[in-house]
Amino acid sequence: MKNTPPLSLYVHIPWCVKKCPYCDFNSHEKDSSFDEKLYLTALLKDLDNEYQNSQQRTLSSIFFGGGTPSLFSANSIHSIIEHAKNLYKFDDIEITLEANPGTFEQEKFNDFKYAGVNRLSIGIQSFNDSHLKRLGRIHDQAQALAAIETAKKAGFENINLDLMFGLPKQNIQQAIKDITIACEFDVPHISHYQLTIEENTYFHKHKPELPESDLIWEMQTQCQNMLIDKQYKHYEISAYSKTGQSCTHNLNYWHFGDYIGIGAGAHGKLTNKTESLNKELTITRSWKHRQPKQYIKNTLNGNALSGKQQLQQQDVVFEFLLNALRLKAGCDIQTFKKHTGLDYRVLKTAVKNIDSSLLFIDKNKIATTAKGYLFLNTILEELLEQ
Ligand SMILES: C[S@@+](CC[C@H](N)C(=O)[O-])C[C@H]1O[C@@H](n2cnc3c(N)ncnc32)[C@H](O)[C@@H]1O
Ligand code: SF4
Repeated sequence: MKNTPPLSLYVHIPWCVKKCPYCDFNSHEKDSSFDEKLYLTALLKDLDNEYQNSQQRTLSSIFFGGGTPSLFSANSIHSIIEHAKNLYKFDDIEITLEANPGTFEQEKFNDFKYAGVNRLSIGIQSFNDSHLKRLGRIHDQAQALAAIETAKKAGFENINLDLMFGLPKQNIQQAIKDITIACEFDVPHISHYQLTIEENTYFHKHKPELPESDLIWEMQTQCQNMLIDKQYKHYEISAYSKTGQSCTHNLNYWHFGDYIGIGAGAHGKLTNKTESLNKELTITRSWKHRQPKQYIKNTLNGNALSGKQQLQQQDVVFEFLLNALRLKAGCDIQTFKKHTGLDYRVLKTAVKNIDSSLLFIDKNKIATTAKGYLFLNTILEELLEQ
């Protein structure tokens, strides 16, 4: 459909071998709810339903996220890609799969490539054995290194490595060492996340001793400088890429594009033109049942949806800003108009109380200033209060 934002597909696989103590994603230790065949059937049905609301649109990316998607067989992943292709007809799009570095997953990298995956995002977290242990990870440094080698040997050129910093008992040299090792592989993309303590996690109940905030800041700055020195562009809070290799799928979220989410707890956002004379856009968010068992049961009965909500104008503007300002380059105003159906003046009014030393806006572009990027949370809190 013309004049709607690009559309991507997110596929959630909600199981892991073991739940990590810091993780608040919708991921569950593999238990009796794990039934790959049944879940696959539910995913395909979920996608068929979604297609009814997004016919004649083109997919720009697919992302298999988790949980641990690499627990699934390449055959299942292939079936989902082929099903999406039959419905939406695409040729050459970014298809990412999140993989854990365990040996069992590595054995499947070749098959994932055959299945149509062309970007692998590997959850390294750290190359330091003590830190991996404290994070409750089931892989060690040797497996992390081997996973990257295996991915390269399998022919993956587009690889992302997830690393975290600010880890319990981590010092600055150790944080830099992790980045140094990652850079030696010369992969096109690195995600560098500060460890956050989230509610409903083991670490929230049993708080580990984290480095002081000044030290975390120093880690972030030094690692950032190192990545930039190695020709990685810092394009989003936690994302670094070589030229032209940013993640299409995540960029679509940050540009307030549309997406379909299939799988337990997956969220979606779809834009539709109303039939009214002024052809306004309506933006609807939707989400699926969160518990795998409940999701499977309801989806097979024809009701994957747990809820949906049409966004009001003020939500649209806030959500746009929440996403776009994460990008260092911000967002151009044409994209804002196209993806929200709103006028530049609406945006200008929404940010009128933000100090111009923190935020830049004109008829072409909106972005934080270099100083504003450091105080992004302050800007967003102020916008939310309005
Ligand atoms: C959806 S997770 C799944 C990836 C994969 N299952 C894994 O853990 O290797 C994506 C990434 O989010 C990051 N992450 C998860 N929980 C986090 C937290 N509490 N703080 C910072 N980063 C976190 C990790 O780097 C992780 O690789
Ligand atoms: S961090 Fe990754 S492996 Fe660990 S529980 Fe979360 S999704 Fe699973």
